[in-house]
Amino acid sequence: MQLDIDFVRSQFSQLNDDSDFVFCSNAGGSYVSNQVQTVMEHYNRHTRVQPYEKYKTSNEAGQAMDRAINGWAQALNIDSSELTIGPSTSLNTYVMANAIGSSLNKGDEIIVTNQDHEANNGVWRRKAEEHGITCKEWCADPVSGLLDPQSLYELVNEHTKWVFFTHCSNIVGTSNPVQTITSEIKKRSNARVFVDAVAYAPHHISDLKALNVDGYVFSLYKVFGPHQSLMYIKKEVYNELTPQCHYFNHYYSEKLLNPAGPQHAQVASCAGVLDYFHDLYNHHFNDQSLSSAQKMAEIHTLIAQHEDRLGAPILDYLSNSKKIRLLGKTHTLDRDRAPTIAFVPTGQSSLQVATKMQNQGIGTESGDFYALRLVTDLGINPDDGVVRISLVHYSSHQDVEKILLALDNALTDHS
Ligand SMILES: Cc1ncc(COP(=O)(O)O)c(C=O)c1O
Repeated sequence: MQLDIDFVRSQFSQLNDDSDFVFCSNAGGSYVSNQVQTVMEHYNRHTRVQPYEKYKTSNEAGQAMDRAINGWAQALNIDSSELTIGPSTSLNTYVMANAIGSSLNKGDEIIVTNQDHEANNGVWRRKAEEHGITCKEWCADPVSGLLDPQSLYELVNEHTKWVFFTHCSNIVGTSNPVQTITSEIKKRSNARVFVDAVAYAPHHISDLKALNVDGYVFSLYKVFGPHQSLMYIKKEVYNELTPQCHYFNHYYSEKLLNPAGPQHAQVASCAGVLDYFHDLYNHHFNDQSLSSAQKMAEIHTLIAQHEDRLGAPILDYLSNSKKIRLLGKTHTLDRDRAPTIAFVPTGQSSLQVATKMQNQGIGTESGDFYALRLVTDLGINPDDGVVRISLVHYSSHQDVEKILLALDNALTDHS
């Protein structure tokens, strides 16, 4: 069975706005599914009141929010009390860093990477500095940009308190094997593991209990939904954290890490992403006995197959071109590479190539994508960065053909 791409594309109204335009900046933010628009509009038109009171509208507003919270907890195979829904991943990690801070004592160590987006980087480095503890860096290969798990294991010891790394780099597009890495870290230490899945979740929604991580975060505005970020923190970790919410809310773990308070309509519309995946599941499969997390796994098998087929011709073209330096793996193996493809042109700037593609109707982009440490350590001009082509499962084979044509024109034309 293959993903029914016509059905998929019919679920995103923005894809029909301009049929000639090819959107390939999805890693910056995806289109929003129609199901999300429906939930958001319903909330704003009919239940826009303070939620969780006993009167009808307020009760419905609370139920709409609970549907999102409980639905996502089921999809991720976690308890709803372990889920924080905050305004963005950068803010969620900022708050989490403040919550962790006071548990860091002299002699403790943390590990971060130079592959991560700054949202899963600077906040932890700053906390280490404030508390006078050692912060080690797990370094990516300076040529490919890939992380070697073996070099991480050499950094882990009995003093390691937290390890922070990414599920998938937003530049090199390659996934790190989170389950294996987490299990190896836990064999060597009592360290907690926190993973940024912002660049991974648009391609795969994970079973978090199976990954056995202690923290996991991603942004729904890159997963066909509203501008919200979901952060999982394992139940037992809450005892180690300093609450960041109002003092009278300290007993509610779902409020502990959200000083902002929930954005009601946005939270409710997170359920629309699940409605979209359920519609996708029901269109392709009919076994209703599966759990929400199992249905997610099934649908993401089809998504991964489609995405692999989209990425392959672009990776083939780029890995054979003498006019660019391709970052990350040249092929996908066992779903280890998302179709998030970055390269550095030789002989012209990334900005020039991206602009030439944009002028041909290709919505690509260039820059450091807030992974400045990686760009710099790969020896790339930080002021120019890389060209990034990022596709998701609603991208089509026709999109890829147009991208390849525009790319070839842009790399050939040196004007
Ligand atoms: C890999 C990665 N992590 C974190 C972030 C930050 O997410 P947010 O914009 O929700 O703060 C981004 C945003 O581009 C990202 O790509």
